[in-house]
Amino acid sequence: MEASYQSLLPNWERNCLHICSDLVSEKDKQEIEKLKKKSPPFSFKLLRFIVNLVRPEYTIQKFIGCPWEDIVDIVHDQTLRNELILSESKIGDSTSFSVNSHINRKHNQQPCTLSTARKRVEQAKNLCSKSDPILVLGDDDLIGIELAKAGFTNVCSVDIDPLICKNLKSLAKELDLPLKTLIHDIRETPPKEFIQDYRLVFIDPMYSLDGIKMFLEGAFAFTENREGTLIFLSLHLMSLLRSGIDKLPFILDGYKLTVLNHISGFNTYPIPYRLWFLIKLFNRRFMRTRTMSSAGYMFRFFLSDAILLKKESA
Ligand SMILES: C[S@@+](CC[C@H](N)C(=O)[O-])C[C@H]1O[C@@H](n2cnc3c(N)ncnc32)[C@H](O)[C@@H]1O
Repeated sequence: MEASYQSLLPNWERNCLHICSDLVSEKDKQEIEKLKKKSPPFSFKLLRFIVNLVRPEYTIQKFIGCPWEDIVDIVHDQTLRNELILSESKIGDSTSFSVNSHINRKHNQQPCTLSTARKRVEQAKNLCSKSDPILVLGDDDLIGIELAKAGFTNVCSVDIDPLICKNLKSLAKELDLPLKTLIHDIRETPPKEFIQDYRLVFIDPMYSLDGIKMFLEGAFAFTENREGTLIFLSLHLMSLLRSGIDKLPFILDGYKLTVLNHISGFNTYPIPYRLWFLIKLFNRRFMRTRTMSSAGYMFRFFLSDAILLKKESA
C-alpha cells in the first residue's frame, strides 16, 4: 500500500548522500557497505551496554541504541553534509541564541544557526504576505524575532519554556518589534484568543514519530484544523530510522497533509561543545573509512531537513 500524497518524501536510500550521490566513489561506497554489514566491534557493544546503564542525555541514548548499519549511514551522511556546507562557506555564524548556557535540554532545545533562521524567513516571504498571521510552535531558534525583523507584523511564538518566552519578549522590546509570545505546553488546549487563521506554522519537533505527532496536533489545535494551513516542519528524517521514514507518509496521510516540498539538509545546528569531543572519539574509533576525512571525524554541525506541508480538507 502506498501513501497517497507523499511522493516527494525520500526513502532511506534517497536520503543518504553517500548512497544516492556521486560525492563518494563506487569503491568507497562499497567500503561503507562492508562496514555496515560487519558485526559492530566489541568496544561498541560495550559502549552501548554502558550507555544503557548510565542513561545519559536522550539524544546520545537514541543514537547509540540505533541499529549499527543506520549509525554508519547517519555518520557518513552528516560528514558529507558538513564537508559540503564548509566547502561552499554556507555558514560562518553560530547560533542566534545569544546565551548558550540557557539551552534547556530537558525540552530538547538545540538552537539553529542564524543563517538557518534567516533561510526560514526567506521561505516565509515566498509563502505569505507580511500581514498574514504566522505561528512558531517552540522557538528556541528565535524565528519569531527574525520574522518580525523582516517586517512580518502578525507573528506569535509559543514555547513551554518561560525563559525562551522571556528572551523573545525582551529582544522584541529592545528592537521595537511586534511579536506576541505565549508560554504554553502544546499538549494542552490553546487559549481561545491565540486560535487564529495562521497561514504558516513553524515546527521543529523532537526527532521521533511521537514528537512529530505532538507538534502537528499542536498546530491543528491553534488553527482548528483549518484547510490550507501551511506547516514548515524541520526534521532530521534519518533520525526516524528506516522504520520511521517508511511510516511517516502514512502518518501525514492520516492527518490529511500534503507534502509540497522537501529540502534535504536545510537546517544547520551547531553541535554543543560537550558533544564535539565525544563524536570525534566515536568516529575515530568506529568509522575508519576513506570517506571520513579528518574534518569528518569531528564534524561541527548537525544538519536536518525541511518539509513543507499543507493541510487538506478533512
Ligand atoms: C522540540 S525543541 C527542538 C527539538 C530538536 N529538533 C531535537 O530533536 O533536538 C524546539 C522547541 O520546542 C519547545 N518545546 C518542547 N516541548 C514543548 C511543548 N510541549 N510545548 C511547547 N514547546 C515545547 C522547546 O522548548 C524548544 O524551544
